[in-house]
Amino acid sequence: MAQNNGRAGSKRGTGARKTGMRKGLTAYGDEGFSLFLRKAFVKAMGYTDDALDRPIVGITNTFSGFNACHRNVPELIEAVKRGVMLAGGLPVEFPVITLHESFAHPTSMYLRNLMAIDTEEMLRGQPVDSVVLIGGCDKTVPALLMGAASANVPSIMLVTGPMITGDHKGERLGACTDCRRFWGKFRASEISEQEIGEINNKLAPSAGTCMVMGTASTMALCSEAMGMMLPGGSCVPAVMADRLRQAEASGARAVAMAKEKLTPDKIMTVEAFENALRVLFAVGGSTNAIVHLTAMAGRLGIKLDLDAFDKMGRETPVLVDLKPTGQGYMEDLYKAGGLAVILRELKHQLNLKAKTVTGRTLGEDLAAAPPAWDQKVVRKFKDPVFAGGSIAVLRGNLAPGGAIIKQAAMDPKLARHEGRAVVFESLPDLAERVDDPDLDVKADDILVLKNAGPIGAPGMPEAGYLPIPKKLASKGVKDMIRISDARMSGTAFGAIVLHVTPESAVGGTLALVQNGDRIRLDVPARRLELLVSDDELAARRKRRKATAARKDDSRGYRRLFMDQITQADEGCDFTFLKPEITTQVPRKR
Ligand code: FES
Repeated sequence: MAQNNGRAGSKRGTGARKTGMRKGLTAYGDEGFSLFLRKAFVKAMGYTDDALDRPIVGITNTFSGFNACHRNVPELIEAVKRGVMLAGGLPVEFPVITLHESFAHPTSMYLRNLMAIDTEEMLRGQPVDSVVLIGGCDKTVPALLMGAASANVPSIMLVTGPMITGDHKGERLGACTDCRRFWGKFRASEISEQEIGEINNKLAPSAGTCMVMGTASTMALCSEAMGMMLPGGSCVPAVMADRLRQAEASGARAVAMAKEKLTPDKIMTVEAFENALRVLFAVGGSTNAIVHLTAMAGRLGIKLDLDAFDKMGRETPVLVDLKPTGQGYMEDLYKAGGLAVILRELKHQLNLKAKTVTGRTLGEDLAAAPPAWDQKVVRKFKDPVFAGGSIAVLRGNLAPGGAIIKQAAMDPKLARHEGRAVVFESLPDLAERVDDPDLDVKADDILVLKNAGPIGAPGMPEAGYLPIPKKLASKGVKDMIRISDARMSGTAFGAIVLHVTPESAVGGTLALVQNGDRIRLDVPARRLELLVSDDELAARRKRRKATAARKDDSRGYRRLFMDQITQADEGCDFTFLKPEITTQVPRKR
């Protein structure tokens, strides 16, 4: 029979112990009454006092009918709850915003900070002693970790896990490198409307996140490398029983973390971010991860230094043979042994003393991982997939604040190239003209897109992967240099210069580019130059009209976004959410 031991309003609950139900009481000016009232309401859920005296482990419920990548969240929640209860805690799930790449207008990036604010305030406002953060789809992992870092509540990350692959005519398929590849073939009239329809049914064949080395996979691996996830947690496919065991173990560990008060600031250190950045390079990860890791580090007062990041990249080869830089999929990496195999190869470059959610160090976790076996997915350090710097940081008069290019996923013939600019003023302009048969464009031209940055779009959409104009695609052109202030899906392939900073909408040099200008890209030298004289650029700047304010910019979240959003080199976080910067990553050596 349920018991009421009459402790609801006792002195014990009024200050001596600010954990569990006694934590963060609603402000009535009488703490005893606040606790009494809270318990009265929570008992409507059927809890006993015994249950309510346990450490409370929150579980973020990021399920939504609009988030296919989170289809398995309900069963993960059940497994987390089992783990929490087996360890003597009380699990309480609660909703936070969820974001899916294809169901967020204008882009999920626009809403990432809203999800981070939601997470932070719910963690601060509700009586949780620790939390299992269930995320997966691209922006959800950084948003949850940004919120958790700011609330500084003991937190453990659990991802929904990658999808398994599909199959078409004997060929393995995966979202979304193959989405783009087949769409390109369709645009070039190489496959029929019927066939592209069949492929559409097979690209996302199960619950879980995109199974190539896109942003979701990259952020999962970086989170594990950073120590915010249980060892082995990043690669287990969404549909496997192991995924549920990860969830149960995460729930159990969250109870211990509550008792140990193992808060994010003790794990998300400069050393931990360095480990995550090493892994970002070694997996040939998504360019989006730079923006997200910058924002996450910013919440801890750590600045990501792009030039030091580039230097780190030159020392760290791509080891993982996954699409879009290689051939395999996340289930292959899982079967090869997951992150531990990568960490072993990188061991001499890692901070092995960095603490993880296990309460041990990364080195101790690695020593406890299953032994290695022969596999072909993760290469040896001395025999990499790509020798160094999967992502390069570019500087020059076109990007004084920096721009990036994923050189491991482009036609190397374009790494040094000078060409004529073909300019699109905005996303609508691109959509209207890119396939115009009269568009003046040649294969060695450089496509330039303006007004697709954090403010210009707004929300810095993944529009940097400009389509090859149909008139060229149909002649077999597969890659061209494309430059913009937008982002790109981590699943994409091409000579694509992204995150040009400052963006065109705030008057960056990108805003001054005109049709016919010459642009020089030199990836080995890390340069991006607009070959127009300083005097001419100054004259163009004088003539340039400031971007007109849009009607929608004046109210609600959009107004907050427009007022507070930072540029890509600051992670596109809101200025008021970042503490003072006190240090940088990677550290100066
Ligand atoms: Fe969710 Fe790709 S759309 S991970």
